[in-house]
Amino acid sequence: MNKFYITSPLYYVNASPHIGHAYTQIVCDAAARFEKQLEGGDTFFMTGTDEHGEKIEQAALKAGYKAGEEKKFVDGIVPRFKELWKTLKVNYDYFIRTTDTIHKKTVEKVLQILNEKGKIYKKVYKGWFCTPCENFFSNAEVNEGVCPDCKRKLERLNEENYFFKISEYQKELIDHIKDDRIFITPDIRKNEVLSFLEKNELQDLCISRPKKRLRWGIEIPFDKNFVTYVWFDALINYISGIGYLNDRKKFDSLWPHVGHVIGKDILRHHAIYWPIILLALGEKPPKSIFVHGWWVIGGEKMSKSKGNVVDPAYFTDKYGVDALRYFLLSAVGFGYDGTFYEKLFIDKYNNDLANDLGNLVNRTLTMVEKYFAGVVPDVEEKDIDNEIKSNTEDLPGKLADAYANMNSLSALKVVLERIGWANKYIEEKAPWKLAKEDERKLKIVIYNLVQTLAALAICLYPFIPDTAGKIWAQLGMKEKIANIKFKSNQRSRPSLWGIVTSGTQISKGQPLFPRIVSGKDE
Ligand code: MSP
Repeated sequence: MNKFYITSPLYYVNASPHIGHAYTQIVCDAAARFEKQLEGGDTFFMTGTDEHGEKIEQAALKAGYKAGEEKKFVDGIVPRFKELWKTLKVNYDYFIRTTDTIHKKTVEKVLQILNEKGKIYKKVYKGWFCTPCENFFSNAEVNEGVCPDCKRKLERLNEENYFFKISEYQKELIDHIKDDRIFITPDIRKNEVLSFLEKNELQDLCISRPKKRLRWGIEIPFDKNFVTYVWFDALINYISGIGYLNDRKKFDSLWPHVGHVIGKDILRHHAIYWPIILLALGEKPPKSIFVHGWWVIGGEKMSKSKGNVVDPAYFTDKYGVDALRYFLLSAVGFGYDGTFYEKLFIDKYNNDLANDLGNLVNRTLTMVEKYFAGVVPDVEEKDIDNEIKSNTEDLPGKLADAYANMNSLSALKVVLERIGWANKYIEEKAPWKLAKEDERKLKIVIYNLVQTLAALAICLYPFIPDTAGKIWAQLGMKEKIANIKFKSNQRSRPSLWGIVTSGTQISKGQPLFPRIVSGKDE
């Protein structure tokens, strides 16, 4: 069976990570966990940092490092990313840096192959360049010398450079995208790329910078006077990190079964330049590209260079890691932009996490303690409610359907609906009355709630792993939740019903999500 290979973009290390980066990363992490735990699949999740180029060189100088000391500068920033990923419980399998030797060697090799194949040539480049975006623009794309994307002032370039002949692959690329051999989702992004490719003739890609202007990059192997354009360098990480040069077996087990998760700002690089580099190399283009929207503040994209960023640590310190993960994954549908503001965050926290989920866990476990001395009651076979049982067993399948194309908003709605059902079930059955009137019925109700909670914990694990683990442990489960493998798409899957056996001693803990009152903890 092929592994599922999932990648995040490589983050620029010109400053600390913000909520936008945290979002891309959490989306990847949830997908990787879902695949591992709920689909029982073999997954490889790779992330890392993009460390060369003009933007990083300038940031190093600004931070007081001298020319030639860029590596020292980036070495100081990379741990900030790694620490944040650890805090956010992002469970990657490999972290690649574009300054790693194997990556640099791979980029050199790719350049050599393409050069030998006659795909690279030299000419004078006249056009525009945006340093914060690290992008080239033609005259036709530019109005009044400002960047069409970020609206900042552009540099005018007039210099000799190396170019990669991408224009000859235009038709082949269109075919790949049209028939979903390169699957781009959501549709709006697929259509955006197709319409761009159908309306414009592709311009060959400038892939070098003269050393006299930029030294911080991977030297072009056949011309010591140039370094590689940072995007050409960075995209190659997706193959350099999985053994393209040094571990062909690993490479063949992962490529091209990849899902690249990216923000909409870097669509063209991934849907046009990257597949063409691969086609020119004689390799298969990537299988899929998942394109998310932006987190916006005051109508503008949150971005380091604009200085309007939200620090993830503020939210994790104040409200907890899973509260942030939950908000990011459930506040907008995958592919849409979202406005980030604290009031919305608090409302979602209070409604979904404190009122619905937190209450359900707390009430259920309190009743197990109160009525059964903390021991999960026994029910007779004939008393099993088949409707509740099958609804619980169907949950992972429904979740998987809703989660198609990384739509965590829909997936979490499925979970939330079941939480809502369980809370209503408690109201309807009124166990506090049954405790006085009918012990057999009380046992059934509590048993059903305990099984539902266990199933919910498993379903929530990819999205809010810490909380899921806590619910699991409070239910008295000894095996780590991370070790539970479940195939939602198999008929013969292990049943989600009856996971917590009768007689299990639960161990109720602190409330999972204390309500937040006016922005402060209660
Ligand atoms: N270094 C390139 C990617 C190279 S991949 C071979 C880059 N880096 S970045 O640090 O600027 O952005 C990394 C990711 O963070 C991108 O997917 C980008 O879309 C995402 N985000 C950056 N700001 C964002 C928001 N405000 N909102 C959501 N995601 C955003 O691009």
